[in-house]
Amino acid sequence: MLNVEGLTLAVTDPDTGQETEILRGNSFSLGQGEALGLVGESGSGKSMTLKCILGIEPPGSKVGGSIELGGTDLLAASGEQLRKVRANELALIAQNPHGALNPVLHVERFLIEGMADARGIPKAEAKARAAGLLRQVGITDTERVLRSYPHQLSGGLLQRVVIAGAISGEPRLLLADEPTTALDVTTQAEVVAILDEKRREHGLSMIFVSHDLDLAAAICDRLAVMKDGAILEIGTPEEIRDRPKTDYTRALMAARPLLHPEGRAPVLPNGTETDV
Ligand SMILES: Nc1ncnc2c1ncn2[C@@H]1O[C@H](COP(=O)(O)OP(=O)(O)OP(=O)(O)O)[C@@H](O)[C@H]1O
Ligand SMILES: [Mg+2]
Repeated sequence: MLNVEGLTLAVTDPDTGQETEILRGNSFSLGQGEALGLVGESGSGKSMTLKCILGIEPPGSKVGGSIELGGTDLLAASGEQLRKVRANELALIAQNPHGALNPVLHVERFLIEGMADARGIPKAEAKARAAGLLRQVGITDTERVLRSYPHQLSGGLLQRVVIAGAISGEPRLLLADEPTTALDVTTQAEVVAILDEKRREHGLSMIFVSHDLDLAAAICDRLAVMKDGAILEIGTPEEIRDRPKTDYTRALMAARPLLHPEGRAPVLPNGTETDV
C-alpha cells in the first residue's frame, strides 16, 4: 500500500545557501496491516521521513524519489489530490498530544470534527459516537473527558484521545512519531498497548518511529535501522537481533538499556512479550 523508492531530502540554509543532504535515497515498502518500525539515533532522519510522507518537510527543501500510497504518487500529485489523500488515508500521532488538539476546543468537538461524515449526522448521534470512540481507547468517564479542554487532561489521557481521533477518520496508514516519549513509563506502556490493539483491530498499516528498539520490536513486523539519513538495513525483529548486517545495528543492540537483568523480555500490558 505504501511504496517509497529512493527518497531523498535536501535542505538549503537560507542564509548561507548551503545544501545539506538529510535523507539519502531510502527505499522501503509497507503492506496492508503491516507495521514498520523506524529506529536509529537522534538526527538520523526518522521524523523527516514521516514529514516527507505527510508533505510537511521544511520550507525550501527538495524531495526526490517517489512515495506511492495506494496507487497515488504523493510527490507528483496536485495540491487538491494530495489534500484528499492526506485527509482520507493518513493519520499522524506525534510525540506531544497537546500539539494535535486545538487548545480552545473541547475534546468532543475535536472528535466530531475528525469523523469522516461529521456533517451528515445529528448532533446527539455524533456525541454518542464520540463517547463510543473514547470507550474504545479505554476511557470510562466519557462525559467529563468530552467536556474537557486539552490542557485539563493528562498527557496519557490526551494521547488516547488522539488515537481515538486517528482511528475515527478511518485512515489506512498511521504515522506514529515517538508517540509515548513525552509520557511517564507506566502510561507509555498503556498507550502503546492501546495503539497496537486498535491498529490491529482496524487492520491499519503503521510506521512507528522510536529510539526504543525493544518497544519497536514488540509491536512491529519489520524494523528499518537508520543512521545519518540512510536506512542501513530492514528486517524482522528476529533478523535484526540475531543476524544484524551492520556493525551499527550491532552497536545499537548492545547499547540498549539493560532493563531485564534476568534475561526476561518485558511484557506489555496486553500480554505481548517483546522479543528482542
Ligand atoms: N527544519 C529543519 N531544517 C533543516 N534541517 C533540519 C530541520 N529539522 C531537522 N533537521 C535535520 O535533519 C536531520 C534529521 O532530523 P530528524 O528530525 O528526522 O531526526 P530524528 O531521527 O527524528 O531524531 P530524533 O530521534 O531526535 O527525533 C537532522 O540532522 C536535523 O538536524
Ligand atoms: Mg524525530
